[in-house]
Parts: sequence; structure tokens; C-alpha cells
Amino acid sequence: MKISDRIADRIASFPRLDLVGAVTPLQKLDRLSRMLGRDVYIKRDDTTPLAFGGNKLRKLEFLAADALRRGADTLVTAGAIQSNHVRQTAAVAARLGLRCHALLENPTGTADVDYLHSGNRLLLDLFDAHGEPVATLDNADAQLQSLAERLHGDGYKPYIVPIGGSNPLGALGYVHAGLELAQQAEAMGISFSAVVLASGSAGTHGGLALALAHAMPDTQVIGVTVSRTVEAQAPKVTGLIDGTADLLDVEVPADLRVELWDEYFLPRYGEPDQAALDAIRLLARTEGVLLDPVYTGKAMAGLLDGAKRKRFDGDGPLLFLHTGGAPALFAYRDSLQAASR
Ligand SMILES: Cc1ncc(COP(=O)(O)O)c(C=O)c1O
Repeated sequence: MKISDRIADRIASFPRLDLVGAVTPLQKLDRLSRMLGRDVYIKRDDTTPLAFGGNKLRKLEFLAADALRRGADTLVTAGAIQSNHVRQTAAVAARLGLRCHALLENPTGTADVDYLHSGNRLLLDLFDAHGEPVATLDNADAQLQSLAERLHGDGYKPYIVPIGGSNPLGALGYVHAGLELAQQAEAMGISFSAVVLASGSAGTHGGLALALAHAMPDTQVIGVTVSRTVEAQAPKVTGLIDGTADLLDVEVPADLRVELWDEYFLPRYGEPDQAALDAIRLLARTEGVLLDPVYTGKAMAGLLDGAKRKRFDGDGPLLFLHTGGAPALFAYRDSLQAASR
């Protein structure tokens, strides 16, 4: 039995809700490719079919199934005021008839009214999620635990979805996505030199890296960090790879290298620099594709710079994993307008 089939069988043994439905498109970015002088493809995980889509639905297929199995009536999670993860968790809760309670931090301390009230934050109210402001999420696991205890005391049955949905169970969503990608690449006859994605809470990166180390071993997986240095991010990715491999009872290939680029996240999480804003504008103008200011704009800035500076090992086609986030564009109106003046 092929290793990918064995992994797929193991994934199929976990309870899973069908939230994503279909395979997400893998498309060539023709105009961008011509401009860069190198073929660039995009996998459209921004088009998953609930509440403006994004990567978290893949994780929530497993996490929400676990919540239902445990008899929960409330999904409890946390993130930035403009968190895409919280938006997708709130939408899934609405779809399942559950409550959603989220701790929300303002990571940059901004007083911008668009940031505080529009974009993803506006959508939380539509989903009837309860957002609770907190000064920081420095100790998120403990903060979520104490919120869950409080809700339990009020008679609810809370289920904690960790920040970003990034635990081994959530990361199964991206092991599954990695196998899906390998099948698409094979069917299209493309051998990618590298896959580039944003690496935040690391479940997307960890799950994908594990799957591709087995299913597309000649392809580099490059995580562009959105909030941390390589030294701080690497243990998070490695921990999720190991934990997910344990959960699936598959080995981590000995030659799996966690590759991170940390030159593109400054000035800090939640604040785009000129290169990220330029990448957002470039993709909008050349391809009609909407990136976001917090994750995919920075990851694309990394891909563009990496291609220009020949940072990739091979010179074959590149794949950008579009993980979503465009609703946050409306929260960054000032930065986007200032950058295009
Ligand atoms: C649009 C978008 N891209 C990428 C990521 C990063 O994914 P992960 O947290 O699994 O590293 C996130 C996480 O919130 C996101 O919202």
C-alpha cells in the first residue's frame, strides 16, 4: 500500500464534518508568471465555501466533529479582533447550531475604527458570536481554559478550539489538504520546486509539511512567518509535525526539513509593511486575486522576493497556498489607501 493511501486511510478513521465539500482549485497565475519569468500556481484555499472561506475550515472539519462527539454546545476560541480563525469558527458554530465565545485581543493597540469594528469583527456579530476583549493573549491556553470553566459554571458545555485551530487534530486538515494537492499536481503533470505559505499558529504548515514529505518529497515547503523569528517559529512547526504524525501513527521522514523565512513579517504581527501592501496590490491588479494584510500579503511578498533573489532550491514552478483572509482588507483601509497613493 502506498504511504499516501495509508495516511488517507488513517485520516478517514477520525470523525470529520464535511465543511469544505470539494477539492479547492489549483490554478496557474498566467500574468504573474510572465511578469516574474517563472511559473507560479495558486491553490485556492481562500475559496472554501463558508463565510468567505479560508484555511481554518479544513481544521474545523476535525475539531468541530470532535466537539459534537463530546456533546459540546459552545465553541470557545481566541484570536486578534480581526482573526480569520475566529470568524470561521463562529460561522461553523452558527452552521451547527452551537454558541461561539471568543477572547479577542488588539495586537497592535490600534484605535482605527475600521480595525475595531469592520472586516472580520463585523462578521462575528452577524454570526451572533460573543467577543470578549482581553488585553493580551500571552497565555492563551490558560485563558481559554479559565473561560471554559466559567462557561461550564454557567451551565454550558464548552469545547476549546485552540488559537488558529492548531493542535494535531486540527492539523489533520492540512495533512488531508497536502494529499489533495499531491493528487492535483500529479494529475496536472506538474512537479513543484516549492510550496510557499504563511506560517502563524503553524497547524497549516505542520500538517502540509508532514503530508508533502511523504507525498511530494522533492518539493520544498517554505513557511513565511507572520509574527516570529525562525528560532521562535521552528519549534512550533516541529511540535505540530511530531504530534500529528503520532496521532496518525505515521513516521516523520528523516529528511523532513522545516524551512522558514522570517524576513517578511516586520514591523510585527498584524501590521503590513510596504512589501506586503505592494504584493496585495500586485496580485489584485495582475490576477484579480485578493490577498490579506496579515498573512497572505506577507507570504506572497516572500514568494516574490524569493523568486527575484533565487532563494528557492530548484528553478521549477512555484505554488502559493492561498489561505484566505481577504475580509480583513476592510479593516486595513487606511494602510491600503495610503500605500496606493
Ligand atoms: C489567512 C490566513 N492565512 C494563514 C494563516 C496561518 O495559518 P496557521 O495559523 O495554521 O499557521 C492564518 C491563521 O489565522 C490565516 O488566517
